[in-house]
Amino acid sequence: MRSLLVANWKMNPTSWRAAKKLFDATRKAAEKAPHLSVVVAPPSLYLRELKAAYRGRRVGFAVQHARAESGGAHTGDVSMEQCKDAGAQYVIIGHAERRALGESDEEVGQQVVAALALKLVPIVCVGEKERSANTAEYYDVVRRQLRAAFLGVEPAQITKAIVAYEPVWAIGKTEAMSPHAMHEMAIYIRKTLVDMKGQGAMSIRILYGGSIDETNASLMLEQGDVYGFLVGRVGEDPARIGPLLQALAAA
Ligand code: PGA
Repeated sequence: MRSLLVANWKMNPTSWRAAKKLFDATRKAAEKAPHLSVVVAPPSLYLRELKAAYRGRRVGFAVQHARAESGGAHTGDVSMEQCKDAGAQYVIIGHAERRALGESDEEVGQQVVAALALKLVPIVCVGEKERSANTAEYYDVVRRQLRAAFLGVEPAQITKAIVAYEPVWAIGKTEAMSPHAMHEMAIYIRKTLVDMKGQGAMSIRILYGGSIDETNASLMLEQGDVYGFLVGRVGEDPARIGPLLQALAAA
């Protein structure tokens, strides 16, 4: 089955040398899995050089965050335009770790519009912090995040974006959410976007993220109604990226 794996390296690895090694392991594993699209999201400091040194086409490049504004007094930040110029094709927007630092729903919406204007593919992260047993409030959280993220997007552009559903309670843990629960969430995400933007949104690509590894990925791909995954730890480990991609290729 055709699918997509996005490896978010977060603030890793510790050196340029290790980044090259990790990229090399990812590239080799991607070459053995021809039906998979593989995207790496390195720290933006490593992006230009990794992209310039890479001659193949199997691996795409993302940044982990970029501001919507094209320039200005924003110490420590990078703009979408700079990331595009450095070779990014995708941009992760609204990751839970950015939202935890105070990134607002409104900023997420501005970033999605800015990315699409530059022909970068936005990978829009949504997901609730917790689920309590007796309420379905988490659906409201996801709906609010989706509405803000796609507010300024033209209906015809909606399928250019990717939604990454990442329940915060499953990120960095030992167990992923169940495929059944993901399937329900995928239906809800599509319904919310169709209500906002029309029938075209039915075909939006949805990723799952949160404790995915080589043992649980294929079942989630088969039963979770997802197009692929956004991974953290497994994608930062040169010894684990290969087994994960093999498991996905076999699914
Ligand atoms: P994890 O991280 O795969 O290490 O759980 C997922 C993420 O933060 O996107």
